[in-house]
Amino acid sequence: MALPERFLDELIARTDIVDLVSESVRLTKKGNSYWGCCPFHSEKTPSFHVVPDRQIYKCFGCGKGGGAINFVMEMENLPFRDAVAVLAKRAGMAVPEFGGGSSAGMRERRDKLLEINKQAARAFHRWLYAPEGAGGLAYLQRRGLSKATLTNFGLGFAPDSWDALIRELSQQGYDKRDLLDAGLAVSNKDGRIYDRFRNRVMFPIIDVRGNVIGFGGRVMDDSTPKYLNSPDTPVYNKSRNVFALNIAKKSKESRVILTEGYMDTISLHQAGFDSAVASLGTSLTEEHAQLLSRYFKEAVISYDGDKAGVAAAQRAIPLLEKAGLKVKVLRVTGAKDPDEFIKAYGRDAFARLLDKSENQVDYRLAQIQAKYDLEDDGQRVAFLQEAAQMISTLHSAVEREIYGGHAAQTAGVTPETMAQEVNRALKSRLRKEKKQQERRDLAPASQLQPKNRGLRYENIRSARAEEGILRLVLLDPSLLAKMEGLTGSEFSSPLLGKVFNLLRRRAEEGLSTHLAALAEELTGEEMDHMAQVAAQPESMARAEQSIRDYISVIRGEGLLRSGGRADDLLLAAQKKYLEKKAYMEEKP
Ligand code: UTP
Ligand code: MN
Repeated sequence: MALPERFLDELIARTDIVDLVSESVRLTKKGNSYWGCCPFHSEKTPSFHVVPDRQIYKCFGCGKGGGAINFVMEMENLPFRDAVAVLAKRAGMAVPEFGGGSSAGMRERRDKLLEINKQAARAFHRWLYAPEGAGGLAYLQRRGLSKATLTNFGLGFAPDSWDALIRELSQQGYDKRDLLDAGLAVSNKDGRIYDRFRNRVMFPIIDVRGNVIGFGGRVMDDSTPKYLNSPDTPVYNKSRNVFALNIAKKSKESRVILTEGYMDTISLHQAGFDSAVASLGTSLTEEHAQLLSRYFKEAVISYDGDKAGVAAAQRAIPLLEKAGLKVKVLRVTGAKDPDEFIKAYGRDAFARLLDKSENQVDYRLAQIQAKYDLEDDGQRVAFLQEAAQMISTLHSAVEREIYGGHAAQTAGVTPETMAQEVNRALKSRLRKEKKQQERRDLAPASQLQPKNRGLRYENIRSARAEEGILRLVLLDPSLLAKMEGLTGSEFSSPLLGKVFNLLRRRAEEGLSTHLAALAEELTGEEMDHMAQVAAQPESMARAEQSIRDYISVIRGEGLLRSGGRADDLLLAAQKKYLEKKAYMEEKP
């Protein structure tokens, strides 16, 4: 019996291909993707490619490729079902049993874990005011937190003991398994368990429904790790939850203040900024952005002022925009992070920063500007060129004009000059994209063909376009709405047509459209080939235009094919006629 698709979806959503592959392959980041030496064949120079935004891997040496499930199937030589079990265990999910009742069982398990977390949070909070928590309480007070703040956030303390929490919860009837599954205890080699959080101040992580789903615990000195967080469990997933959203969602503000840490968020709330949240110990994900967009219209990124913070802000901008949020970036100056800024300069100063926070394009412009000395003519030209490059990537002409104007003003040139520069950059980018496309179109047929003979394309030109359509859908399934009624049966390649239909059906049912989700429906060779297809570059800049072009190629070639068949019929008829004629003529 098939596994429930929601379960597979959740499994895939919880498994990051980069994390997974990193457990067995050393990966190096290059641009938006990662490279390493292939684990499936022996090599010295990396040809193994991992693409996070498509959640796939692909080896250009041996041709193996696919999503997370395929990776485990290949790596550990397991059948589909067993690979799913391995990943489920890793993601802290219970594999549903077969035949009824399984989802009810899972639900019961989740409820139990939420209950145990709640009890743990209570115990931690109680200990903060007990004699063994004196150090913790003093630490939090030293950091300026008021009694009301400690209560609002339910902060607590984990005593300096190997089993304080284990004893507490065992008394309440929870067993070893519960404690381990909740991530509150860890076991050693001999199977003995001990408390995960010891001698730390505790920050409960609470979801929008008010459930305690996990914890972060901070040391009170300089030892490491500074923060220890709950692992992913059946109720906690760090890429899906943000800290303090349970409080921030009630704010009257329509803009969310996005920080990097627990203390920043708590400080902001204490100072009256009640829409602050933090993504915890992980960079912002698409899911975080989606979640925030449910409650807010605008996001103000308020990360640390250091290099890492700037880089994290740059990564977060497109994700937030994609989720439909208007994005601004606040620059913390004169302090390491928002918490220290408020301590040093007070809440009004932060409110001013907030009002001054820049539109993200201006922010990026300022980042570029910081690299150049605008007094120097040569550097000014370089600044204008780089700014024009960035501005040329903006989608609307209005935006290009407005921000072009800003850059012009910065560099002291006329808006017209800047507009010309932006246009030049835009044209050159479009030219480059077109060339790339042409090169792909012209690549020798043998290179384009699937490795496996059974999958060979009959019509390369159409197959190119079909591949393009699939790449676009894999990157952004909402594009399926723009397909002009295209169906897989119009595709020249049966495999590509099948994948198109599968993706469309999954999207309609609200299921995951990652390639990884097709692991059960495609053979290993089909998956290898699909990963190859998905790994090719594809520009999202003019996705809708590309779709129209691809569809016209697919339909045009389709017509030719059916036309071709008609020709064949004519030809056959003519041949028959000639044969017949010859026969007649032969006859005496
Ligand atoms: P920071 O190092 O900036 O800490 O990490 P912070 O929030 O300013 O905390 P204080 O002020 O030193 O107490 C930012 C966030 O990254 C995560 C935590 O969520 C933290 O709030 N982090 C950091 C970890 O998960 N583990 C660590 O060891 C360090
Ligand atoms: Mn800090």
